[in-house]
Amino acid sequence: MLRVGRNLENDEDVYIDDSKSRVIVVCGKRGSGKSYSMGTLAEELVLQGKSLAVVVDPMGIFHTMSQPNEPQNELLWSWGMNARGFATRLLVPGNPVERYGGEDVIKEMEKRDVEFKSLELNPSDVSPEGWCETFGFGVNDPMGIAITKAHLKCKKKWGNNFFIPDLIDVIGSDSRAGSTTKDALSNKLDIAQTWGMFSEGTYRSLLDVLSMDHINVLDLSVIHSGRYGRRPLFVSTLVRDLFSRRSIARRREELELSSDVPRIWLFIDEAHQFAPSGKSSLAKEGIIRWVKEGRQPGLSMVIASQQPSALDMEVLSQWDVILSHSMTTRVDKSALNALTKDYMGSELKVFIEKIARTGEAVFVDDFEERSLMIKVAPRRSRPGGSE
Ligand SMILES: Nc1ncnc2c1ncn2[C@@H]1O[C@H](COP(=O)(O)OP(=O)(O)O)[C@@H](O)[C@H]1O
Ligand SMILES: [Mg+2]
Repeated sequence: MLRVGRNLENDEDVYIDDSKSRVIVVCGKRGSGKSYSMGTLAEELVLQGKSLAVVVDPMGIFHTMSQPNEPQNELLWSWGMNARGFATRLLVPGNPVERYGGEDVIKEMEKRDVEFKSLELNPSDVSPEGWCETFGFGVNDPMGIAITKAHLKCKKKWGNNFFIPDLIDVIGSDSRAGSTTKDALSNKLDIAQTWGMFSEGTYRSLLDVLSMDHINVLDLSVIHSGRYGRRPLFVSTLVRDLFSRRSIARRREELELSSDVPRIWLFIDEAHQFAPSGKSSLAKEGIIRWVKEGRQPGLSMVIASQQPSALDMEVLSQWDVILSHSMTTRVDKSALNALTKDYMGSELKVFIEKIARTGEAVFVDDFEERSLMIKVAPRRSRPGGSE
């Protein structure tokens, strides 16, 4: 059981049953406590020690979980809790020293018990659509056709073991594509290699850099959130990799064969960046699949957004827990309100309007068919992003 907080009415502890896979939607306006609450849940999960906790962190604020939340000591004591840091593994796209601008930054963070791991995407894990979206052309454009053909050919030839130069070679030998297309595409791939996001020589499953004993934080703040999503590319590749590895593990477990892939909880902060409503995003398809089909293989997701109206409805509608902090924008309130169910007694927006303080929230658990007002438990580890 994950302790989220206390019932405002009677001060009783409120728990989320984590024995089954869950889809938790955390929302609220800026500064209302979403990232904080995600941290509270992630701590609880790590204390259980049964699942892998992975946080997708577009703001670069979760590495502070390695440090104790001493600034809130008094609050913690009033809850009978103590400040403590958690072993934190920071997954950094590419080379951490380059990303953080110097060896000294890394050293200081290591002193604060952050463990660094470089995370690189295997070119063979990027789907043809992934390349197209990353470069900003359609699958049916000449370059889209050429990269799709090259990708399939490489897969056939080398399985997972091919890299950007191999793709470029194969494109060069494509007799059907025009030379302008081939040159332009090879050029794009050359540039992509300089982003420092792609592995250059060894295939490594993303799962292998994650650790059960740590809170795994994927710091996407170091990647430019440009027009054509490199961040969504990372999330999409991670989501697809974890989904398929965990599905295979599940099948093995059912046959009573050994499996080394634990159940996974994926936390996505600022989730509207990855599953936006009304727009396509590379990561969206994978996220939808995770929330729709992930329960059986043991995949849970916690998605936080200040704009539920900007979150894809297919994702939002899969919720089984809502944790909503204060909200003032009408469109967002009504997006959430649309999720009201009969057992709630009144409309969700009525609950939301009752929220008086930071850290208070409406809590709805669809498994238990109950909705109540809670205060979220304090973080043992330091929340990032605040002064
Ligand atoms: N449950 C809570 N208890 C105590 N302080 C909180 C709580 N939730 C949020 N805060 C405070 O509010 C600040 C903003 O919260 P944050 O989670 O960063 O907001 P959001 O992600 O919604 O923009 C935190 O840094 C913290 O100081
Ligand atoms: Mg936040």
